[in-house]
Amino acid sequence: MGPVRWAVSTRSPGRRKTPRVDVRDALRRRRMTRAFDGTPVDEPTIADLCESALRAPTAGNARGVATVVLAGTEGARRYLEAATDAAWRATSPRAAGLLAAGGAVVVLCDPPAYAARYADLGAWPVPYWFGDAAFATMSLLLLCEEAGLAACFLGAFRREREVLSLVAAPEGLRVFGAVLLGGAAPGRRSASLDRPGPTRAARVIRGAFATG
Ligand SMILES: Cc1cc2nc3c(=O)[nH]c(=O)nc-3n(C[C@H](O)[C@H](O)[C@H](O)COP(=O)(O)O)c2cc1C
Repeated sequence: MGPVRWAVSTRSPGRRKTPRVDVRDALRRRRMTRAFDGTPVDEPTIADLCESALRAPTAGNARGVATVVLAGTEGARRYLEAATDAAWRATSPRAAGLLAAGGAVVVLCDPPAYAARYADLGAWPVPYWFGDAAFATMSLLLLCEEAGLAACFLGAFRREREVLSLVAAPEGLRVFGAVLLGGAAPGRRSASLDRPGPTRAARVIRGAFATG
C-alpha cells in the first residue's frame, strides 16, 4: 500500500454550512491504537494535521507548543528507538505493533515562552505549557480520527533527553509526549479499557461533590 493521503481535506475552499465531522462521533470513535499495519504516512499529510492541531488555545496566546513531524515508518521507528530502550523493544508484546506506525509527531512545549508572557506570575500552580500541549495533542487525535488515521498518544515518562536530542530541540524545550499514527492492524483490546473506575456520568458533578 502507498503512503496514506488525506481522507478528508481540511483545506476546503470557502466556509461550509454544515460541519464535516460530528465532534461527538469523533470523540466516541477515537481509541488509542497500539498495533499499526506498516502503511507510511507522508510528511505533508502529517504537517497539515499538525498545523490544524496548533489552532488549539494557548494560554495568553503564548504559542509555546511545537510539533516535530517524523514521517513514515522510518520516522516512527526513529522516535521509538529514542524513547524506549532496546530491551523493551525486544521483549514487549506491544513493540512490533507500535514500530509499524506510519509516522510520529513529537509534541514539545516551551516553558520559557510562558515565563516571558506572564512575567508577573511568579510560581506556577498549574504549568500552562503542559496544558497547552495537551490541548494541541487532543486536537491532533481528533484530526487523525477525521482523516481516517489510527493514532496513539505515548506519554513522556522516560528518555526525554534522547527524544530532545533526536529532534535537535533548542535549549529549554520539554517533551510532552508523542502521537504515533498510521493504519490500524487487528490488535488486542487494551487491558486499560476494562480497568474498573468511575463512569463518565459519575464524573459530571452538578454544583458540588456530595458530602457525608
Ligand atoms: C497523559 C497520557 C499518557 C498516556 N500514555 C500512554 C502510553 O505511554 N502508552 C500507551 O499505550 N497509552 C498511553 N495513553 C493512552 C491511555 O492509556 C488511553 O487513553 C486510555 O487507556 C483510554 O483508552 P482510549 O484512549 O483508547 O479510550 C496515555 C494517555 C494520556 C492521556
